[in-house]
Amino acid sequence: MRKRGTFASGFGTVAAVGGSVIGLGNIWRFPYIAGENGGAAFILVYVLVSLLLSIPLMLSEFSIGRHSRSNTMRAFHKIVPNQPGWQGVGLLGIATALLILGFYSVIAGWALEFLQEAVSGSFHAQNPTELKENFTSFINSGWRPVAWTLLFVAMNGVIVSRGIQKGIEKFNKLVTPLMFLILVGMAINSFSLEGLREAVSFVFKPDFSKISASVFMQAVGQSFFSMSLGMGIMITYGSYLRPGDSMFRVAGTVAISDVCIAILSGLAIFPAVFTFGINPTSGPELVFLALPNIFAQMTGGYVIGILFFFLLFAAAITSSVSLMEVVVAYVSEEFRLSRRLASLLTVVAVGILSSLCALSQMQGSSLLVAGKNLFDLFDSLTSTYMMPIGGFLIVIFAGWVMNKELFRNEITSEGRFGTRLYPVVRALVRFFVPAVIVLLFLTQLGVWK
Ligand code: PHE
Repeated sequence: MRKRGTFASGFGTVAAVGGSVIGLGNIWRFPYIAGENGGAAFILVYVLVSLLLSIPLMLSEFSIGRHSRSNTMRAFHKIVPNQPGWQGVGLLGIATALLILGFYSVIAGWALEFLQEAVSGSFHAQNPTELKENFTSFINSGWRPVAWTLLFVAMNGVIVSRGIQKGIEKFNKLVTPLMFLILVGMAINSFSLEGLREAVSFVFKPDFSKISASVFMQAVGQSFFSMSLGMGIMITYGSYLRPGDSMFRVAGTVAISDVCIAILSGLAIFPAVFTFGINPTSGPELVFLALPNIFAQMTGGYVIGILFFFLLFAAAITSSVSLMEVVVAYVSEEFRLSRRLASLLTVVAVGILSSLCALSQMQGSSLLVAGKNLFDLFDSLTSTYMMPIGGFLIVIFAGWVMNKELFRNEITSEGRFGTRLYPVVRALVRFFVPAVIVLLFLTQLGVWK
């Protein structure tokens, strides 16, 4: 069994949780999902979902974790030893982590390629059309994205095999505020671009006719993804929370930062999108198509370009390590393997999955399932189905299965914090969150529109 400690300080707790939460989901995924779903209308729904669904779910995961002080699968076993079915929720989380790692590592690989291009100064030598062509030929070369992806997966393996040490926590404390600064700088800088007006109305002026059940579903998926929810990561992190800490403070701080950083990325990216005539619905490539254009034109763009792609990579690795930790902890504990061997096996599995994802993006690739390439399939399968289902089961567990007193004691830290908010949280966890998720699924299945 692993030795279980707790986070060392309040700031350390927020930094560690923040390191997992703030990642490619905010900077890379949010702008393109918002772009595909109508911009401001989506963002409005996203903020509501984060407050009313994601925070209660995060509190539920924390309380399961802090009470049981165990890995995702054992946590359920400790709370209800005679209902083994619940351990399946832990397994679902582990499967979700593997699939997310499959496509997440590909994007992190792109960040490495772009970091190298930024260092070599190649953005400055190209106009928008050339930048786009260059990106397409990178993806279609096949071996280049695969090589970067494998390098990224291997780096994760090295870190996880040594245990999540002080190094990564310290790194997080430094990198997360720095990333925030760079994003603010970039957002301010894009205010000087011609496309600003169009971008601000795209981000802030909702067209309510665009809000549909599918926009809601996407917002739930994006919010759970961005806050690392619905797959037990926060159960594991919750097991490291100190008994006297306020869960409300951690969940509140992290949720607010998450939403702010996502909107800030939108403000940094959309002006460039409109100025350079890039389609806001270009999908996963959006950030990679839009930003090099700004770097090529702005003063100091060379240095900022390098910083940005470095931070994109850093944000990715602090999140992917938390994903890999879920798998490695499970493999090493349940199959009684050393952490090193468990990490090696996980790296091999993730390496295969992510190489297939990268290859499936080549033009004419035959790695398709139901018309979708593997990359898109893993992305939408996890966010649209697996995380919402995982989240649903977790709130049902916390609200209806777990002992009521125990849940209250955890959420309020034995009556110390948020006792007035507690009844609201309890009602959201028991009724509101599960009901909304069920409604959304019915819509998805076409039962209700
Ligand atoms: N929350 C991370 C991000 O926004 C991604 C992630 C998802 C990490 C699920 C862990 C678990 O990039």
